[in-house]
Amino acid sequence: METVKLVEVGPRDGLQNEKQAVGTNDKLALIRKLAEAGLNTIEAGAFVSPKWVPQMADSLAVLKALPLSGPVNYPVLVPNDKGMEQALEAGVREIAVFGAASESFSQKNINASIAESLARFDSVMATARRHNVRVRGYVSCVVACPYEGRIAPAKVAEVAARLLDMGCYEISLGDTIGVGTPNTVLDMLEAVSKFVPMNQLAGHFHDTYGMAISNIHASFGAGLRTFDSSVAGLGGCPYARGASGNVATEDVVYLMQGLGVATGVDLSRLVAATWFVAGLLGREPDSRVARALGRPEV
Ligand code: HMG
Ligand code: MG
Repeated sequence: METVKLVEVGPRDGLQNEKQAVGTNDKLALIRKLAEAGLNTIEAGAFVSPKWVPQMADSLAVLKALPLSGPVNYPVLVPNDKGMEQALEAGVREIAVFGAASESFSQKNINASIAESLARFDSVMATARRHNVRVRGYVSCVVACPYEGRIAPAKVAEVAARLLDMGCYEISLGDTIGVGTPNTVLDMLEAVSKFVPMNQLAGHFHDTYGMAISNIHASFGAGLRTFDSSVAGLGGCPYARGASGNVATEDVVYLMQGLGVATGVDLSRLVAATWFVAGLLGREPDSRVARALGRPEV
């Protein structure tokens, strides 16, 4: 049976964008429910500046409370050496560095040009290598940038290739503002896959225009087999104006079930996690599938 790998980013990409703070114990309860649903890669936090993203300020406490040597992988975002120090203190096995294909977004998001960010990542990755920490790389704005508009696929390919050369084992391609459609996504994927093998790429689709599932289906057809998604369709980047949530994990699981593709995820347990986080945030989930299946009886 064909399989896809899902990278659950709700506890990070999702909760980083919520005005209402979610307490550490509630985050941990959510992460446990996601793991119980069968998700085995769960991005659990970000060692970024608490002045920039206060929602992630408790990431050290979250990571310290998780079973980091168990079967579930809990990667965490790291922008610089200071973040890497915290990653080592927490004992994480995997981090993610996050760059962009747009100069303006790079400045707004991490206060660095693309070249400066890559130099920072070089230093982070040297430390990661010494400590056997795996590194994933993100490229944001792979279709368009909220400040610059369309981004050339060749620019995305250039940044992705640099991250691969530095030693990232996988490059996640972020349609940060969710404007891509299958044609723009496939053009970008074709350009990038000339430099990075398809089996080392992932799709990270925000759903601002409701195109994320179409983009996943099209990318799957082109050979992509790793997708980032977020429980309840939470998400967005505080430094990308107008960006809405990620594609909902439950919608991706439903699509894959329909295609006869294994995800390892139990949909009814996942939907229970969806309604749990929706309850924490005091609203209905954004995902079609969670609403269609309804709130589980307790
Ligand atoms: P900066 O202000 O240029 O940093 O921020 P600095 O090195 O000049 O230091 C300033 C202060 O921040 C100092 O403290 C440092 O110690 C502290 P002070 O002396 O003023 O008290 N500091 C830190 N504190 C905690 N952790 C750290 C850290 N580094 C410095 N790691 C920085 C630069 C990168 C830190 C900042 O811009 C930042 O934290 N940015 C993160 C923004 C972010 O998290 N955005 C969302 C994630 S990216 C995303 O969502 C896109 C993605 O989902 C893919 C997609 O959708 O496309 C991944
Ligand atoms: Mg994102």
